[in-house]
Amino acid sequence: MKALILAGGKGTRLKPLTNTLAKQLIPVANKPILYYVLEQIVEAGIRDIGVIISPETGQGIKAAVGDGSRWNAQITYIPQAEPLGLAHAVKTAQSFLGDSPFLMFLGDNLIQGGVKSFVKEFTSNKVDALVLLKEVSDPRLFGVAELNEKGEIVRIVEKPREPKTNLAVPGVYLFTKDVHRAIDKIKPSWRGELEITDTIQQLINDGKKVRSHILTGWWLDTGKKDDLLEANRIVLDEFVKRDLRGEIDCTSQVAGRVEVGEGTGVEHSTIRGPVSIGDNCHIKDSYIGPFTSIAAGTTIEQSGLEHSVVLENCSIRNIERLSDCVIGRCSVVTKRGDGFKSITLFVGDDARVEL
Ligand code: G1P
Repeated sequence: MKALILAGGKGTRLKPLTNTLAKQLIPVANKPILYYVLEQIVEAGIRDIGVIISPETGQGIKAAVGDGSRWNAQITYIPQAEPLGLAHAVKTAQSFLGDSPFLMFLGDNLIQGGVKSFVKEFTSNKVDALVLLKEVSDPRLFGVAELNEKGEIVRIVEKPREPKTNLAVPGVYLFTKDVHRAIDKIKPSWRGELEITDTIQQLINDGKKVRSHILTGWWLDTGKKDDLLEANRIVLDEFVKRDLRGEIDCTSQVAGRVEVGEGTGVEHSTIRGPVSIGDNCHIKDSYIGPFTSIAAGTTIEQSGLEHSVVLENCSIRNIERLSDCVIGRCSVVTKRGDGFKSITLFVGDDARVEL
């Protein structure tokens, strides 16, 4: 059994962060999403892993994942020259995959409880494809499945305008080698992509054994700002443990499940978990509220921050209250100290400022 992680794509919906960072490397609870994906694959017993990368962000992915030895896995990088669809990515990986069955995992998706049980279900039932499904409130954004009374998939449509069900297709799939023949038969969709949903439909039309499994736990697709904050909230809530490594002075209060990294100083501040603060941060005269992740090297002074994600090496000073923020690397957010009420901005491409 092999695994194929899709870590290409442009990350258009997460601009401006994705102007300089692959969307799969954006951290959730201070850890890149892709690392959770790798952990879940290895936990399912798969160590031979192909990673699809794009020309734009491939170098960043390689630098972050390396040869995979950190996960005791073997990584093969597979460049995809253009984002021509998920099925096109499988086609590009054909020589890596060979005749092996495989788990395909979109590198910006997370599934509660991992994928071990699905891999087991797929291998023990000897099916040709296993597709996860999840009930969502707005299925128009996803692949959508229709089932018959026996619970088998009869139709699967990519982003239908009028979805027949609320069963979306999350980014985790299991296939046998039959998928390659199905891909050869499909044509690009209206958006010019070879769709994996059309491929699954082709497998069904060809009479292959396609099974589905409806997820009851959470599924996080971190493609947009609010989804990213939601993912951060859920992952902090579920995984963060109290672990204080930095220096916390006696005038500070740290309540609940809070992680404070090495070399971080907390002075005269209040932190209420769940919160994750990375290494070498400086928190002074501030309030850090629940569901906040602050990456390494960031300084926060005389400010309040909650339900937010702050990436590396930022500086936040004299801002009374920030909430629901996503702040990219090396950003400076501060209040002018000259008493004027005007607002001064120096904001990069695709940024969004809500005052
Ligand atoms: C892709 C798939 C879609 C699936 C979604 C899950 O959409 O085409 O069927 O539901 O991933 O994240 P895309 O991210 O290409 O819009």
